Amino acid sequence: MDFDIKDMSLAETGKLRIEWANQNMPVLNLIKKRFAKEKPLKGVRLALCLHVTTETASLCKTLQAGGADVVVCASNPLSTQDDVAASLVKHDKIPVFAIKGEDNETYYRHINAVLDTKPMITMDDGADLVSTIHSERPNLIKGIIGGTEETTTGVIRLRSMAAKGVLKFPVVAVNDADTKHLFDNRYGTGQSTLDGMIRATNRLLAGTTFVVSGYGWCGRGLAMRAEGMGANVIVIEVDPLKALEAVMDGYRVMPIAEAAKVGDFFCTVTGDINVIRGEHFKVMKDGAIVANSGHFNVELDLVSLEEMAKKKRRIREFVDEYTLPNGNRVNILGEGRLVNLAAAEGHPSSVMDMSFANQALSAEFMKTEGKKLKKIVYSVPEHMDKEIARLKLEAMGIKIDKLTKEQEEYLASWEMGT
Ligand code: ADE
Repeated sequence: MDFDIKDMSLAETGKLRIEWANQNMPVLNLIKKRFAKEKPLKGVRLALCLHVTTETASLCKTLQAGGADVVVCASNPLSTQDDVAASLVKHDKIPVFAIKGEDNETYYRHINAVLDTKPMITMDDGADLVSTIHSERPNLIKGIIGGTEETTTGVIRLRSMAAKGVLKFPVVAVNDADTKHLFDNRYGTGQSTLDGMIRATNRLLAGTTFVVSGYGWCGRGLAMRAEGMGANVIVIEVDPLKALEAVMDGYRVMPIAEAAKVGDFFCTVTGDINVIRGEHFKVMKDGAIVANSGHFNVELDLVSLEEMAKKKRRIREFVDEYTLPNGNRVNILGEGRLVNLAAAEGHPSSVMDMSFANQALSAEFMKTEGKKLKKIVYSVPEHMDKEIARLKLEAMGIKIDKLTKEQEEYLASWEMGT
């Protein structure tokens, strides 16, 4: 079996950490049980380009239990947990191509190693498999049933491919399921981003000014949790509706040029490019701490910062200190890569439970329905989304009411008024 990981001797640590995470993934475990019986993915070669974490390991085992031949590479050079990679290879015989800290060339070599297995279904977090297949390995397209996509950034890329008519197979936007973005993006990013920033810096948030760029589901979650830690939160937005929502949620809203002067902590979660630029770094306070928790490391203009800085040093793990011509220091966390996975362990397993339940069921959906689908981006079928919510509540021991017959009729009628 071909693979490329850091160190096989880490496998036992990885196995225990995977077991620990799995204890909080009841919905995925129910799916795994059914998959083991029904083998809905029998004979499917499934290529995963995901963050190689303990939660991803549980997804791999679920897909494998369903009969799939699973092969994995990283969806970010800094997010791989090397002990998890070792455990998947050693204990589950799953080929993994991922090493934490790999350079760009190795990252794409790993993507291509996974594509060499001629996948029938792709599972992406950021659309790198789909984009590499379309741009460099189009000969693989004829063997592909379809794909699934985990994250907002990937869905944006795919929708742009579909709109231009260049997408050559169907893809399910797992990100857009309610049981994904309302929980993973909001509560997952909220907690894990703060976790990453705190682990990297060991700084107190209470009484500081925390600037959140972007008020999508990730930004909403991050702002809410930063406020909960006692920070004064400023929100940066370009969409008037979201900006208004941030105002009414109780945050100060202003342009980044103003916020740059007063923030102690900054975090971008926009999915766009160059959100914090040279002119903003220039006016930051001495010691400002800047991170990104969006998918790609393009949200911070680090090229300008590098050019402008008089001095750069790694002052502690995951913290690069840049000294500017005016003497002020700006600290960049995790090289501007998603800080929750670079400096911490990503979202906790109980939210990934729902995200990856969507992934597992979407892979099954693609296997059974894919040949009938158009070459566009699909939503997760609503009944699947609702079933995941129902199972999650059940696993949490929470019961809810059902509509009475009278209530159902009332909702279906238009005649009844005052
Ligand atoms: N994305 C964010 N957190 C994650 C995790 N724990 N595992 C996989 N992908 C993630």
